[in-house]
Amino acid sequence: MKRSYHEKVIDHYENPRNVGNLPKGDMDVGTGLVGAPACGDVMKLQIRVGEDGVISEVKFKTFGCGSAIASSSYMTERVKGMTLEQAGAVKNTEIAKELCLPPVKLHCSLLAEDAIKSAIKDYQTKRAKRTAAATPPPSASASTQTAAHA
Ligand code: FES
Repeated sequence: MKRSYHEKVIDHYENPRNVGNLPKGDMDVGTGLVGAPACGDVMKLQIRVGEDGVISEVKFKTFGCGSAIASSSYMTERVKGMTLEQAGAVKNTEIAKELCLPPVKLHCSLLAEDAIKSAIKDYQTKRAKRTAAATPPPSASASTQTAAHA
C-alpha cells in the first residue's frame, strides 16, 4: 500500500506533541482559533507567556487532516522558548519544508501560521487591557487629589 504522508507527518500524527488546553481565562495565555475555509478544518493553538516575554508552554487541538495535526504539533515544539516576535515570524513554508508537505497540503501548514499569529494577538490584547486596567485615568487621579485637598 502506498503511503501518501511523509514519515515526519506520520510521526507527529501518531505521536502528537503538546495536545491539550490551557485555561482561556488565564491572563498569561493567548488563544488562537482558526479555520481553513477550503476544507473546514479547525485548529486551536494556545501559548503561555512568561514575564520575560518568552513562550513557556504551548498546547493545541486540531480537528483536521494529518498534515494539519502534524503542522500544529510541529509548531508547538518550534515556538516554545521563543519570544513573541520570533514566534510570529515562523512561516508556513518552513513548516511545509520540515514536514515535506506536498503543494496540495500547503494550506494545512498555513493554518498553523495563522493560529500562532492569532494566539499572539489574543495575548497582546489581553495584556494591553490588563495594563490599561492597572493604570488609573489621569482625570480620576486629578479629581481624587482635588477632593483630598478640599
Ligand atoms: Fe485542510 Fe489539511 S486538508 S487543513
